[in-house]
Amino acid sequence: MLRYLTAGEAHGPALIGILDGFPAGVPIDREYVARSLARRRTAAGRSRRQARETDSFYISCGVYKNTTTGAPVAVMLKNVSQFAVLDPSAIPRPGHADLAGMLKYGISAAAVIRERASARETAVRTALGAFCLRLLELLEIKIFSRVVKLGHLRSEDAKTIMRELEAAARAGRSLGGVFEIRAENLPVGLGSHAQWDRRLPSRLAAQLMGLNGVKGLEFGSGFELSAMKGEEALDFFRKGSPLRRLTNLAGGLEGGMTNGMPLVLRAAVRPVPGQRIAVRSIDLKTGKTVSAAPGRSDVTAVFASAVIAEHLLAFELAGAVLEKFGGDSMKEIRARVEAWRKQTKKLLRG
Ligand SMILES: Cc1cc2nc3c(=O)[nH]c(=O)nc-3n(C[C@H](O)[C@H](O)[C@H](O)COP(=O)(O)O)c2cc1C
Repeated sequence: MLRYLTAGEAHGPALIGILDGFPAGVPIDREYVARSLARRRTAAGRSRRQARETDSFYISCGVYKNTTTGAPVAVMLKNVSQFAVLDPSAIPRPGHADLAGMLKYGISAAAVIRERASARETAVRTALGAFCLRLLELLEIKIFSRVVKLGHLRSEDAKTIMRELEAAARAGRSLGGVFEIRAENLPVGLGSHAQWDRRLPSRLAAQLMGLNGVKGLEFGSGFELSAMKGEEALDFFRKGSPLRRLTNLAGGLEGGMTNGMPLVLRAAVRPVPGQRIAVRSIDLKTGKTVSAAPGRSDVTAVFASAVIAEHLLAFELAGAVLEKFGGDSMKEIRARVEAWRKQTKKLLRG
């Protein structure tokens, strides 16, 4: 079983991630992981903190001579921006984990909750996801993402998008948006119809809804399907060899499994709750209305979220591949996937 855990705080010494159940024989070097981290860090709309964070990291185990060994992979990512002492104030910021976390854990300093709830943690999820992307890449499975909406704007025109971002940054306001991810060349039959928690969309949704700030998700034509007539909402087969579909309204998933069409999903990202302009809150110690710490904040997380989501999706898809095909080394897995592809091609022809 492929699984991961992360630990660490936004301004602590480091973030730590462990990826367990990853096979041996996947060639991967530091630059590959560094590229993923750089894509996340330098995505449009990020705050100045990103310019300070270098995401320098250390792969402490699970890799020997730039190849995975089958042992757990551990990544440690250093924070440049560190706090020796945390702000003790009890002022929860609306839109964040602060209030619920303070009450739940009986902690009076909002910063204690904020430090772990911060999306800085997604850096280490991205680093672990890079291993999974690499595994999929070796199976010729490709994952792409793009932002399709920034606020109300459709994102066809890059210049308009940049202008909108700059205007929001000047005004100290944040923006939400929608990103789309596509995964191509997935083997047919990842996931299962047989049990709710083995349905691939349920597992992908858990990964994507687990990304800070993601508030909505649709597979294929998602919400649009609900307004269609029954016969319009089907992806009809096209006669021929290999068998194909006329449309991909289902986004590559039917009955909880990949169906051979590209996997397509879209996620809605809220405007980041932190603003440069003051946001009202209550000081829980005095009961007075105050301004919750404004300051450095991303203008939007949608571009970075798209990159992170590629890596989260890669993790879940790699897990589904390992479940279906088994195998402890990449050589074994590759041979089994190839055999399956040949077999399903034949079946689809028949
Ligand atoms: C890459 C990324 C960057 C983010 N940057 C910020 C930020 O600068 N300021 C902020 O208030 N929220 C930011 N967020 C969003 C918050 O982390 C998130 O909305 C908050 O933790 C509340 O969680 P929820 O929206 O999932 O309920 C970011 C999220 C992501 C994924």
